[in-house]
Amino acid sequence: MSKSHRSSNIKLLRYVVVIVVILLCALLGIHLMESAPDAGALAGDTSAGLSVETRHLRAEIGRLKQLLAKNSIPNPYEYKENLPIIYAVTPTHSRPLQKAELTRISQTFLLVPNFHWIVVEDSMEKTPLVANLLAKSGIPYTHLNAGTPKEWKLLLNDPQWKKPRGVKQRNAALRWLRENADPARAAVLFFADDDNTYSLELFEEMRGTEKASVWPVGLVGGMVLERPLLDTDDKVVGWSTGWRPQRPFAIDMAGFAINLGLILENPQLEFSFDVPRGYQESTILAITTKEELEPKADKCTKVYVWHTRTENPKLPLKKNKQVDFPHPQFEV
Ligand code: UGA
Ligand code: MN
Repeated sequence: MSKSHRSSNIKLLRYVVVIVVILLCALLGIHLMESAPDAGALAGDTSAGLSVETRHLRAEIGRLKQLLAKNSIPNPYEYKENLPIIYAVTPTHSRPLQKAELTRISQTFLLVPNFHWIVVEDSMEKTPLVANLLAKSGIPYTHLNAGTPKEWKLLLNDPQWKKPRGVKQRNAALRWLRENADPARAAVLFFADDDNTYSLELFEEMRGTEKASVWPVGLVGGMVLERPLLDTDDKVVGWSTGWRPQRPFAIDMAGFAINLGLILENPQLEFSFDVPRGYQESTILAITTKEELEPKADKCTKVYVWHTRTENPKLPLKKNKQVDFPHPQFEV
């Protein structure tokens, strides 16, 4: 690279860093001003009330975060001190839809402040597809892998409910958090499967979680929405669900968040293959009680996350394998 080329690159990088810092400060300032009447707003308010300027700034910050990642420059304003970190754990497995799903959710996560994405591949080795996607994402992340044992792995033509999914991967993330997260730092844990749809409002709802919080999930359990039922004191007393309502926590994985402190204080708590179908959520929520749950999303009346389950593309099969996947020439 010529000397003048290098120095113009350095100038560009400096410019990018300065712009990002200015924008982050501006965004934080506007956010604080908007939430001033309500002390809990930073943690709990939804972005429904954000001004057009804030939305523009948020989009611009997303674009600049990606530019920094592209130029391998660390983002100096990755974490704001006064805001709890959200750790989102995503198990993911190789399939024709994988890159599309990860791209879709990563572009939502990019716009969430103080966010750390733990992506755990269900594979014996980390794949370049996921490694490259994460490196370019602009999101602070940890990339792990944990292969599901063969006897627990779904076969191509198995119905998806036949075996539990994400068990080893979520446990690997819990282990990483127990070894790496700073117990003195306020943080919230959320299990973000790669096939759901997430609204930005969801993350500001969960950020204030003191122990465990819950909210409705759209398009799940054979219903348009599943939701916690509240009594007149706004305490959770039951569940509106089309499926196994007798479960201790009859709720989807996307319907709750847990304060990370609780996870760190209970080092034995983990997911298990050995639980009845639909009991993964109740296994981890056994860390708390129904009475203690904090209802979010406007007393559980709003839907900010959907269990979308993208339809698998109908690709030709040969010897129980999808033809042309992975594609020999293109990363799709
Ligand atoms: C529902 C819940 O939404 C899941 O959170 C829960 O793990 C699952 O039930 C269960 O009871 O095990 P569903 O939408 O049917 O799940 O599950 P998937 O979306 O197919 O899988 C959940 C996560 O595990 C996804 O992020 C997916 O990519 C990952 N996964 C799936 C793997 O890592 N390996 C697999 O072989 C399959
Ligand atoms: Mn799913």
